[in-house]
Amino acid sequence: LATPEKVLRTQMPSYTCQRRTPLNHHNSTLTDALEILARAAFFQSSEVRYLGFTRAVSTLKSLPFKLQSAEEAKDLPWCGGHCKTVIQEILEGGVCREVETIKSNEQYQAMQLLTGIYGVGVRTAERWYQEGIRNLNDLKNTESKLTVEQRTGLQYYKDLQQPVTREEAERVEQLVKDALLRFSPDVQITMTGGFRRGKLEGHDVDFLITHTNESALTGLLENAINWLKSKGLILYYHMKKRKHTSHAVSSLMDGHETYYTICALPSSSSQNTDLEVKPHNFVAAEQMACLKSQISKGWRAVRVDLVVTPHAEYPYALLGWTGSKHFERELRRFSLHEKKMSLNSHGLYDTEKRCYLPAHSEEEIFKHLGLTYISPSDRNA
Ligand code: GTP
Ligand code: MN
Ligand code: MN
Repeated sequence: LATPEKVLRTQMPSYTCQRRTPLNHHNSTLTDALEILARAAFFQSSEVRYLGFTRAVSTLKSLPFKLQSAEEAKDLPWCGGHCKTVIQEILEGGVCREVETIKSNEQYQAMQLLTGIYGVGVRTAERWYQEGIRNLNDLKNTESKLTVEQRTGLQYYKDLQQPVTREEAERVEQLVKDALLRFSPDVQITMTGGFRRGKLEGHDVDFLITHTNESALTGLLENAINWLKSKGLILYYHMKKRKHTSHAVSSLMDGHETYYTICALPSSSSQNTDLEVKPHNFVAAEQMACLKSQISKGWRAVRVDLVVTPHAEYPYALLGWTGSKHFERELRRFSLHEKKMSLNSHGLYDTEKRCYLPAHSEEEIFKHLGLTYISPSDRNA
């Protein structure tokens, strides 16, 4: 007789966007290990292996109970083959030898460190590694060869490594709102990304900006950025201008006006006393030092992404900027392969009926795709 667990295992749909993936799940020992294999594959630019491991991770994250044996894994989508061996080793002996080898590998460690710098991708990190660069000091000696973005990333490395808390994200939101409302009183500002999915911390804070009157958006973000800059609150930014995008070209070519920034977030007055009264026992010594330095200088650097969208595209932009990255990738793959529809942050195009499908809400987009609605907190794939 099939147990309820067996039924759930055998009936798990294969696309991530067909299931719920909550933030907290039951198989983190397995997903932590598989995520390291995924990252190693990513560092080697091995797209196929990267996707394979990432899909297995996402399956395990949406499993509503702890996997007990590798035998059970064979019912699950994407968990066979190499993944099954890893799962088996961990469930039986607690560790996977391959994962341990990767973790202690010099190149993996250097790639991890170097790609952690803002503005540094896999290819740059790989080239630097071949040139003998292993750590931040090695880089500081070759600083003239860095792009402005990378030099800024290096300059604020410590702050940007420190996760952004929800409290800090809310203070960034206040700053962004203050700046935008100065120029347009009815502008709508929504925090997207990981925080909208319920994460307690993030590597940055993402915002989507829209207005019911499209002309009110012209120059709005530029004005707000300039105002923030004049107050010394912007340390760095680069922008991507809106260009005409066509679904015929590529669904990855999203073209909303986007500012990628590093802001100087002033310390809150409560932060001072917080740190004095109750030292965070679980915070490592180095992180504690970083927090103290932020407080003594009165601010910390925070990555902030700002995106402007016309009101008609807002639901699509909201869906596209809420993530997670893997959830988005799966949504687009599902749309194209199962529905012959092309999805991006601007809209949904039915390639058979040759028309765009307008939507007023995220719920409507899921309906167009014939998918059960998945709320943001269940998109943590
Ligand atoms: P943390 O920031 O680490 O908390 O996670 P996050 O999920 O917020 O990641 P991130 O800020 O990188 O991205 C948020 C969402 O925006 C993801 O779904 C991405 O797919 C999407 N996104 C990020 N950068 C871009 C971009 O340049 N263009 C488009 N169209 N989408 C992007
Ligand atoms: Mn984010
Ligand atoms: Mn972002």
